[in-house]
Amino acid sequence: MGTDGVEQDKLLRSIRYKDGSLQLLDQRKLPLETTYVDIRDSKDGWAAISEMVVRGAPAIAITASLSLAVEISNLRTFNGTPSDAALFISNKLDYLVSSRPTAVNLSDAATKLKELVQKVAANASEAQAVFQACIEAAEIMLEDDVASNKAIGHFGARFLQKQQTDRRKISVLTHCNTGSLATAGYGTALGVIRSLHETGVLERAYCTETRPFNQGSRLTAFELVHDNIPATLIADSAAAALMKAGRVDAVIVGADRVAANGDTANKIGTYSLALSALHHGIPFYVAAPLTSIDSSISSGEEIVIEERSAKELLRTHGGMGEQVAASGISVWNPAFDVTPATVISAIVTEKGVITREGTDSFDIRGFIEKVAASSSY
Ligand code: MRU
Repeated sequence: MGTDGVEQDKLLRSIRYKDGSLQLLDQRKLPLETTYVDIRDSKDGWAAISEMVVRGAPAIAITASLSLAVEISNLRTFNGTPSDAALFISNKLDYLVSSRPTAVNLSDAATKLKELVQKVAANASEAQAVFQACIEAAEIMLEDDVASNKAIGHFGARFLQKQQTDRRKISVLTHCNTGSLATAGYGTALGVIRSLHETGVLERAYCTETRPFNQGSRLTAFELVHDNIPATLIADSAAAALMKAGRVDAVIVGADRVAANGDTANKIGTYSLALSALHHGIPFYVAAPLTSIDSSISSGEEIVIEERSAKELLRTHGGMGEQVAASGISVWNPAFDVTPATVISAIVTEKGVITREGTDSFDIRGFIEKVAASSSY
């Protein structure tokens, strides 16, 4: 095992996959219980995503792909042609994409797998070749995600350090969970925080509770404590006061879908944090892999925002605990909001940092074209 393999093994893992078997860390039970659940097929994968056993844009895309990989690995018989196999896979992928609507990573992974199996089917003589190609591509997604997150961490930490002209250590506020639990490992925005810590320039990470599902207090706090990163938990409503007190140098969050102009859908509350940061003159960064970019849409207006059960507000523990709200109250529970590009200072990807260059929007399509043209893509 190479150096990278050794490092990766130290990472907290929410997705355990090995040769046709898939287990997910049940994130609904964290931080009190560490329980893994078996995922045997796409039906299990769909349920795990929609019920939040696993969550976070990259993690749900990888889970969907691997749940299908497990299903086809364990198929006893398949009496069909390569085209039938490609159709079987496409139908399962359409079903998996319907589990949660906002994160584009899920539909991006499904589109890539569909394109691949159609291409393989066109030249294959047996259905098995199509299945095998799909399994291998899903496995590669799991492997690639960690490397991509480490690159985001590296670019982000370097960029934030450059912006800190007085060379003080940096205190960063983050929202929701964008770490190992939301990805294959290391994380996006939390990956930048990890990288700042590893390079000795992090003063402190602040994480919000992230009501109503508490991804911040249950999951991000768990990861920060796990990695011995100096960190403080705040109520979502304390963020503006924390900024006013001068305790935050930068805000960094993840993304579920970034439009071509840079408008970004992320966990509900992100927009409020961006507005508070703007008011206090604090830079606001988004960290996300290119798989979170939806360059087919021009702005955030076109993003479908998932609305979740009223239970998440009426009860404790993201809807799984006891009732706390008055019976009879009506509830609006959007899981995400859209932060306009105008209040985002920069977007950190695994291929570099995208800036607005004094304009009101990001040229994401131009960035992607440049990346594609470079040999490293
Ligand atoms: O509802 P969730 O927990 O899936 O929402 C997660 C987020 O909003 C994350 O910030 C986003 O998916 C990026 S995860 C690297």
